[in-house]
Amino acid sequence: MGANKRPDSMARIVTKAQADAFIAAQIKEVRAQVGDKKVLLALSGGVDSSVVAALLIKAIGKQLYCVHVNHGLMRKNESENVVALFEGELDANLIYVDATDRFLNLLAGVADPESKRKIIGKEFIEVFADEARKLAGVSFLAQGTIYPDILESIEQAAGKKAVKSHHNVGGLPEDLQFDLVEPIKLLYKDEVRVVGEALGLPHAMVYRQPFPGPGLGVRCLGAITRDRLNALREADAILREEFDKSGLAEKVWQFFIAVPDVKSVGVKDGGRYEGWPAIIRAVNTKDAMTATIEEIPYALLHKITERITHEVEGINRVLYDLTPKPIGTIEWE
Ligand code: XMP
Repeated sequence: MGANKRPDSMARIVTKAQADAFIAAQIKEVRAQVGDKKVLLALSGGVDSSVVAALLIKAIGKQLYCVHVNHGLMRKNESENVVALFEGELDANLIYVDATDRFLNLLAGVADPESKRKIIGKEFIEVFADEARKLAGVSFLAQGTIYPDILESIEQAAGKKAVKSHHNVGGLPEDLQFDLVEPIKLLYKDEVRVVGEALGLPHAMVYRQPFPGPGLGVRCLGAITRDRLNALREADAILREEFDKSGLAEKVWQFFIAVPDVKSVGVKDGGRYEGWPAIIRAVNTKDAMTATIEEIPYALLHKITERITHEVEGINRVLYDLTPKPIGTIEWE
């Protein structure tokens, strides 16, 4: 494993002083590695890619080119927040690509979850590669690889079977081969967060709950349609707002809405109102391999139900999924 093995002597990063020392060392190392060359980074807005972006902005400033691909499956305001922070506040070279139509057109009519994942992963590479080709003279690709990713790929190489194909980003095409810059590859997630805070990233971004690469694509169950995807995005935003207000957001590892491709009969303004159900999922886990259900107080469930059914076009019921993992996985797809 060589440089991919965390040395036994490496202390766990817990304090700001340790994080500052790590940042200073990485700045030196990255500068020595890339010289005056250009570096490209796919910036999703997740914790890992955001920390790498902030670190590289400190190390090499405008030599870094961040590409944010909006695949149309982001949560409400997510892409807007990435642009506001990295372009607006951190003055990064940010290339924002709204690829919503490309993704949704390819996904139209595709109901199988693994096919959806494959399409999203493959298209992501293509959109990113298109942008990379437009930028002349890029020598390096930065990645937010962290230590568990390295450990997991060792396990997979050893033949362990995965339940879902979680790995969204495969390799780039042959004509685009770069040297890798992976400044946080020996860090565990909790250390990445400490480093993120030391870099001055907002708390909400550093402690953001995990969000799958295929995004809302695996929560808009079955074949995705724009109207159901919009309903899901709005319902999810209400859930997050209410979890934030009640303090539950700090206590629950992952929470979201899933919307199945099923309609039920309801009644609104005295007439028939067919709509989809919004399913609430809120789980706690240490490593995502098993998960337990977080108890949401009834009063809060009522409030969320009231808001979603009144404010979101197309939703006429709210359900609460009480299934642990196993037997249910965390996502529905
Ligand atoms: P499951 O549904 O397998 O999810 O219990 C475990 C964790 O993995 C996330 N997840 C994904 N992450 N690409 C990702 O990057 C995916 O295709 C994917 N599918 C599930 C899920 O959100 C949970 O945190």
